[in-house]
Amino acid sequence: MKKEPFSFDLTTPGFIPSHYDNHIQRKLSNMKGQYLNHEAYEAMLSEKDLLLYQVYELERPQIEGELLHGISIVHPGKVGNEFFMTKGHYHTVIDTAEIYYTLKGQGYMVMETPEGDCAVEELKAGSILYVPPRWAHRSVNTSSEENLVMFFAYPGNAGHDYGTIETQGFRKLVVEKDGKPEIVDNPRWALPEVG
Ligand code: PA5
Ligand code: NI
Repeated sequence: MKKEPFSFDLTTPGFIPSHYDNHIQRKLSNMKGQYLNHEAYEAMLSEKDLLLYQVYELERPQIEGELLHGISIVHPGKVGNEFFMTKGHYHTVIDTAEIYYTLKGQGYMVMETPEGDCAVEELKAGSILYVPPRWAHRSVNTSSEENLVMFFAYPGNAGHDYGTIETQGFRKLVVEKDGKPEIVDNPRWALPEVG
């Protein structure tokens, strides 16, 4: 891992970094139980295990003071009427923030705290989103044809806690209704245990 300053470019049109260490690919089969419509999920999965999103990470030591960063690309599509999205997570070290810069596409960041507060912020090319400490976050692509591409950075020691979201889901869902994205309550959401 580099100790000296470094830079990298984003090659268009794909926005794939000219240098990266990890390439994470998440498929439909990695999202079991995350979409509200289980029948639509199973039907899609039996057709093809589609690639839903990808992350290109630049590896850094997982310590306070470092910044982990990279590019996330969420592909367009829906499961039932729910748009393709990331798994979403709390940071394991919950008092760590994250910053996102949307480079291409459109969507929403769905966020919530262990206390049950929630927020949904629009993502569009050129906008910067600050996710404060304690807010779980999930990105959702609401375009029917374009990728949602974002640059992200967060503290090296943050870690990912996926378990809480896997069990409880997010409080809000982003669905298509009458051809437009709509933010609705998740009927399966349960107030997390405050830790
Ligand atoms: O750390 C982040 O929040 C992002 O880099 C995400 O990891 C990325 O968007 C993929 O989402 P998830 O980790 O929830 O699968
Ligand atoms: Ni994060």
